[in-house]
Amino acid sequence: MGRACPNENENENERTTGMSPLFTQWQPLVEEVHARWTNQGSQLHGPDHWKRVAWTGAELLEESRDADPEVVFLFALFHDAMRLNDDYDPDHGRRAGVFARRLHGTLYTLREAQLDLLVRACDGHADGRLSRNPTVAVCWDADRLNLWRVGVRPKAEFLSTPAGARESRILAARALQERALVWEEVAARFARLADGIK
Ligand SMILES: [Fe+2]
Ligand SMILES: [Fe+2]
Repeated sequence: MGRACPNENENENERTTGMSPLFTQWQPLVEEVHARWTNQGSQLHGPDHWKRVAWTGAELLEESRDADPEVVFLFALFHDAMRLNDDYDPDHGRRAGVFARRLHGTLYTLREAQLDLLVRACDGHADGRLSRNPTVAVCWDADRLNLWRVGVRPKAEFLSTPAGARESRILAARALQERALVWEEVAARFARLADGIK
């Protein structure tokens, strides 16, 4: 842990421009993921966590302008949805990537390069690596900053973005654990981001 994987170095992002339909038409997708979530009832890895990962991702996106908001939002939604339990489940990220591909084209649509990034971010998020790809880096940091919920203080050396590794950001993620979020406000924040409005 702590070294960037060579495969994560490329900056092949094509950042979304303009308003994405995802952030106004997210409800059927979110409902489907909630319905097919394999660890129903989990407090640690369920929807409250997904929303906080998305919110943290949005905060990182404010400073990581090369990262893709659509991919970050979808990563937050999918990344833990295929967990089988709250304990050791090393392949849950790869199952999430398969799940994300399965719903693509019906409940959401990305460009091929975006879908590849989403699947890559899901696949490797629990493998303990860093990434220099701006989008994957924001995804993984957004998840790791929420380690506070299991009583673990996120370590700066395990965070991929300068914004994520900043002490004030790490502490803000602790405060976020007390906040109840709803998907409406999460999606609205991403809509503003994707539209270039902070
Ligand atoms: Fe996970
Ligand atoms: Fe997670």
